[in-house]
Amino acid sequence: MTTAEKHEKYQQAEKGINAILEGETNMILKMSTINCILKTHLPYYFWVGFYCVNNGELIVGPYQGTLGCLHISYNRGVCGRAAREEKTQIVQDVHADPQHIACDARSQSEIVVPVFNPKGKLIAVFDVDSTEIGSFDMLDKEYLERILTTHFAKTQLMETYI
Ligand code: SME
Repeated sequence: MTTAEKHEKYQQAEKGINAILEGETNMILKMSTINCILKTHLPYYFWVGFYCVNNGELIVGPYQGTLGCLHISYNRGVCGRAAREEKTQIVQDVHADPQHIACDARSQSEIVVPVFNPKGKLIAVFDVDSTEIGSFDMLDKEYLERILTTHFAKTQLMETYI
């Protein structure tokens, strides 16, 4: 996929997400919708989902794809590193990253983006896996950080969980 095509797909996805989620406050509803729309538009998304902060660890939340690991501690995995550092992680080749946890052996590259609430507190990480090496770059980072900031960090409305 060329950079121009990637831009176009993300623009369409972002537009759709913003329109559909306008005025919505429920976390699970938002997470599920973001997964669905991004996976529909971006053909290299193999696994997409959220790991939520819960009792000092990450637990799997809404996702689309093959069975994800249920629990990830902060000191393990690319997800744990994103949570510890509170910074987006791009892994071009998961086999070259000793911290990577393989939930599905087909995963070859990965991006993990931290998700914050309006108070700046980490509430989850957003994880995308691809079956190809080097699928993710600064364009994925830019769009994903903006989408997640808009819908979790910038919302003025009271969040609900269920
Ligand atoms: N690869 C992740 C684990 C989650 S799965 O890929 C769905 C990690 O290293 O943290």
